[in-house]
Amino acid sequence: MENIIEVHNLTKRYKDAGAEVTALDNVSFKLPKGFDLAILGPSGSGKTTLLQLVGGLDKMTEGDVIINGQSLKKMSDKEVSEFRNKTMGFIFQMIYLQDYFTAKENIMLPMMVAGIRRKEAMEKADSLLEKVGLLHRANHLPRQLSGGEQQRVAVARALANDPQIIFADEPTGKLDKKNSEMVIETLESLSKENGMSVIIITHDENIAKRFSRIIKLENGKVKKDFNLNTK
Ligand SMILES: Nc1ncnc2c1ncn2[C@@H]1O[C@H](COP(=O)(O)OP(=O)(O)O)[C@@H](O)[C@H]1O
Ligand SMILES: [Mg+2]
Repeated sequence: MENIIEVHNLTKRYKDAGAEVTALDNVSFKLPKGFDLAILGPSGSGKTTLLQLVGGLDKMTEGDVIINGQSLKKMSDKEVSEFRNKTMGFIFQMIYLQDYFTAKENIMLPMMVAGIRRKEAMEKADSLLEKVGLLHRANHLPRQLSGGEQQRVAVARALANDPQIIFADEPTGKLDKKNSEMVIETLESLSKENGMSVIIITHDENIAKRFSRIIKLENGKVKKDFNLNTK
């Protein structure tokens, strides 16, 4: 089976004012195309670091990440960012929407970056807004939306360029129960119905259990790898 992601002996050490922290310590795993994965672990266990390295947002100290057969280590910074824009979508706990752009414009941005024509981007943004139940909020600014609605806009934005991989770092950490459920259900459906590879980071075991594989991190190491793949 083809792997969408291969993580080979990944290590990340941060050096701050002389002190060195090993945030990730020799982590390896492979994720076949279209499968979902939850990364579970307590605060400080290296979850965000792992996502940033796999998503090409930061550089590894040792090891490599292979996405679709391509080594991130061998790409230039520019190549990585283009690759990311086409292949990956990100959802973070802190919702980084552009304050002066409407919900719809925020969703259009990654498409404009990818060179998609404005008209097509507008239509796609509308269909994504519909998917997350916010078409009636298309022309609202982020500050006119609740936190949960903002996160749903961020989910729609992450889907703008039909990524093969969706990374979500504690996406429900700041949401109430109802909005959490909507975000998790959307992520589940992306994997089950659209064949995307969804990687969610959480410290909530109940959320992790809804995904078909759980990698548990502790002190930067893989503590357990439960493979419940039923596809
Ligand atoms: N930029 C950084 N500089 C120094 N240490 C960092 C940095 N980012 C994370 N760390 C440290 O790396 C470890 C793992 O952090 P992180 O990946 O954010 O964990 P998690 O997402 O599981 O809470 C922690 O000890 C954290 O303090
Ligand atoms: Mg984190």
